[in-house]
Amino acid sequence: MIKLFIVGMPGAGKSYLGKILAEFLNCIHMDTDEMVEKRTGQSIPTIFKKHGESHFRKLEEEALWECVSIKKDMICSTGGGIVEKDENRAVLQKFPTIYIKKTVDELLKNLRSDQDNRPLLKGNSADKLEQLFLRRQSLFETFPSIKIPKEILEFKDITCLLYEIAEKTTFGHQMQEKRIEGIHPVEIKPLMAKKQLQDSEYVITSETVHAIYTSFFKEDNYLVLPDGELSKSRDNLYKVWQFLINKAVSREEVITGFGGGTITDITGFASSTFKRGTVFDFVPTTLLAQIDAALGGKNAINVEGIKNVCGTFAFPKCVYIDPLIVFSTEKSEIENGLIEGLKVALLVHEDVDILDSQLKLAKIILEKPNLHAMNRFIQQAVQDKMKIVNSDPFEKSGRKFLNLGHSYGHVYESTFNIPHGKAVALGMLKMLREKTDPIIKDYCVFFERIVKKQLDTLNTHWNDDMQKRLLNDKKNTKDHIVFIDLETPGKPFKVVVKKSDMQ
Ligand SMILES: NC(=O)c1ccc[n+]([C@@H]2O[C@H](COP(=O)([O-])OP(=O)(O)OC[C@H]3O[C@@H](n4cnc5c(N)ncnc54)[C@H](O)[C@@H]3O)[C@@H](O)[C@H]2O)c1
Ligand SMILES: [Zn+2]
Repeated sequence: MIKLFIVGMPGAGKSYLGKILAEFLNCIHMDTDEMVEKRTGQSIPTIFKKHGESHFRKLEEEALWECVSIKKDMICSTGGGIVEKDENRAVLQKFPTIYIKKTVDELLKNLRSDQDNRPLLKGNSADKLEQLFLRRQSLFETFPSIKIPKEILEFKDITCLLYEIAEKTTFGHQMQEKRIEGIHPVEIKPLMAKKQLQDSEYVITSETVHAIYTSFFKEDNYLVLPDGELSKSRDNLYKVWQFLINKAVSREEVITGFGGGTITDITGFASSTFKRGTVFDFVPTTLLAQIDAALGGKNAINVEGIKNVCGTFAFPKCVYIDPLIVFSTEKSEIENGLIEGLKVALLVHEDVDILDSQLKLAKIILEKPNLHAMNRFIQQAVQDKMKIVNSDPFEKSGRKFLNLGHSYGHVYESTFNIPHGKAVALGMLKMLREKTDPIIKDYCVFFERIVKKQLDTLNTHWNDDMQKRLLNDKKNTKDHIVFIDLETPGKPFKVVVKKSDMQ
């Protein structure tokens, strides 16, 4: 069960942070001040005036006990004076509790508009606040502290704050872990990335990931590559090998790929060829890498401008998925992952409830993202992809179904420079949008929403250049193009067309 208590001075932003975290983590938000007001039907200034501070403190303590005993996931913003009582502090010490640290000046700035509701600050508020601060500071300091980086928190800020909270308290222990067995195991647990990285022996990562998560790295055991597709080059492969040689990495030591699909691809390739195969694992950091690229043991680099043309099949020791970490990526990266995740759902499931649920989660993630929905979507999508991979690890038959939407998708991607995920959505629309199955129709509506700006591409005149690209797609055999189609959800089939018939 999730429980987190927030303490701090009046004006520190306890309610704001509590509300935001509760929404993000799908917990209820409890605020001891609000609870007291609701129970008594009186405002806090009125309770102070009529019954005195000690009566208020008693009510406040009762509210705290209610928060402690409630059997629901909960984030609690406490009243500023709650720490003054020894018993309250003793209770809070038993739970993950964080102190929002602010200077008196910062607090005053926040409080200026709200003095009427703060009975202890009536009169000369600057002096009073300073006195309160001096009285309570050492009590607050008995809890680990965080600083809120700015007034309005974005997803990236919330992500970094949660890692900090998890490092300083036992908050992360409350997250549930899911382990999926198969050709390689996968572990999924929010907030696990930092610990996993700190346990890693050698890490390959990319610039942006390193810049955001600098504190995850130990000194001197990692290599930073450029962001994006550029990292999957012959030169960078050579750099990884050099790094491993300089570090005298042995075959038994583990090399960790920490980044998006480009980083997991090159790390897998470099590791599987270094000393004819060293052990590697992945901590993927984009949604696409978590539910697709890092799963299933296909590793590759690009050569002569041809994507994934040189690579290996080699399986990671384990893939560690932390659904929180994807919240620092751009929205377009999340969209890419959602599309591939929904594609796999359509391939694997006949069960309408599961298909519906994945689509609903994808909509939530797109409109009002939260960790709970992301975690659930990822768990299902990973199981779906692993089901296909486990039944055909070396892509001899059924794994080829994963190419749904990709034959046309690759043409759109290379002709119009459309991001891979969106191009695949267009490719799926090209194959599926005339279908009458209601679930397929629902999925197509969602794909259309994501590619709204590129939808016209589907009406572009199919020219010779596009035909050439379609015929030369590397997924084809020498003489045939293999399209993947769906009869109904969960029932994919191959359409094999002779190239000579299409020329
Ligand atoms: N091996 C396979 O089976 C397989 C399957 C699908 C795709 N792929 C490969 O995956 C690659 C695409 O992967 P991708 O979509 O993850 O792209 P990516 O690796 O290029 O990552 C996208 C961008 O996001 C940044 N980033 C990554 N994690 C971040 C985080 N947590 N916060 C902020 N920024 C972050 C990266 O630095 C990069 O700039 C392609 O090269 C594709 O060929 C491989
Ligand atoms: Zn793809």
